[in-house]
Amino acid sequence: MRILVIGGAGFVGSSLALSFQQSQPNSKIVVFDNLHRRGSELNLPRFKQHDIEFIHGDIRNREDLEDIPGTFDLTIEASAEPSVHAGQSGQGVNYLIGTNLNGTINFLDFVRKKSAGGVFLSTSRVYSIPALRSIKLDEGDTRFELSAQQDMTGLSKGGIACSFPTVGRGFRSLYGSTKLASELFIEEYAAVFNVNVLVNRCGVIAGPWQFGKTDQGVFTLWVARHLFQGQLSYTGFGGTGKQVRDLLHPRDLFRLIQQQIPVLDKHRGQIFAVGGGPENAVSLKEYTQICEKICGQRLDIRSQTETSPVDIPWFVSDLADVGHSFDWKPELSPESIVSEIKAWLARFETILRPLFT
Ligand SMILES: NC(=O)c1ccc[n+]([C@@H]2O[C@H](COP(=O)([O-])OP(=O)(O)OC[C@H]3O[C@@H](n4cnc5c(N)ncnc54)[C@H](O)[C@@H]3O)[C@@H](O)[C@H]2O)c1
Repeated sequence: MRILVIGGAGFVGSSLALSFQQSQPNSKIVVFDNLHRRGSELNLPRFKQHDIEFIHGDIRNREDLEDIPGTFDLTIEASAEPSVHAGQSGQGVNYLIGTNLNGTINFLDFVRKKSAGGVFLSTSRVYSIPALRSIKLDEGDTRFELSAQQDMTGLSKGGIACSFPTVGRGFRSLYGSTKLASELFIEEYAAVFNVNVLVNRCGVIAGPWQFGKTDQGVFTLWVARHLFQGQLSYTGFGGTGKQVRDLLHPRDLFRLIQQQIPVLDKHRGQIFAVGGGPENAVSLKEYTQICEKICGQRLDIRSQTETSPVDIPWFVSDLADVGHSFDWKPELSPESIVSEIKAWLARFETILRPLFT
């Protein structure tokens, strides 16, 4: 197989590229990335070591993609400016739209001409923030919990499904808008040009080799700050760390994509909610306890009560639809994610400490 991973030097892309190389050593894996993300350059020696070809290019430039030699059996689009805060201050809007939206159209035209199929990584941030904030929650000791009575489409005890409102209930962040618009173009290209691309609409993904920052990748940053004794704050919704997210390890995502590859034509244009699901949901406060136990360090975490306009108190992916179509559920718990991140940080402390402190 020939597999191209766009944004493959990033956290999720590099994990997928290396997983493919390990599980299919006879495949040719090519990574395309402009190394925009701080730390992504640290993946280049890993690619060399595992015989993965690296091409420096920018998804905003259609010629950069057209210059990639050969055709592919699969193209994964994992490049992005992935922060929900991106562009919100007015800075970097062009880069965000150029990469996340124009880049998607360039990816689709590339697949149309040069790839048998593709997988697009979208985000749970496509949902309307006012709709997400109107979910009824009870405040427990360590987390916000779903109240028994709910009246929202696409919301159940199992989590949030793809039918939850994305439009008509208000804004969703510039990041979320670029991804929602991308999903629309994917559906269109699938219907009009039979382009075999499906969408995995992912919740929070966390694991080693994520160069987490306060505005993106906070679950990895949280482990690093515990291990290296940095500062952390619970921000928003009362500043007590009761916000809930379900966590997905990229290896679990890889297991799903492996199942999707042979049936991309059957699922072209379709969107699947993908995440850790209710079993792997934690609040930040509970996550702190896991970090303390695994890192053996305790931090005095500050409290900032002001809530960012793009923050949400509760998100858990409903895995029912993806579970009906594929024999898949996540296997890696938040505890194993923290253990892996800690082991990675400890092993590469010299290069990683400056990035995280
Ligand atoms: N990490 C998460 O929690 C999460 C959750 C949901 C969806 N996603 C999606 O998964 C994908 C991968 O996210 P990630 O966490 O690996 O992010 P990341 O920032 O680690 O990786 C993205 C990669 O894209 C590259 N890139 C950025 N702009 C580019 C451009 N113009 N041309 C070429 N390459 C460019 C970056 O250098 C980086 O290596 C993204 O589409 C993101 O929106 C991530």
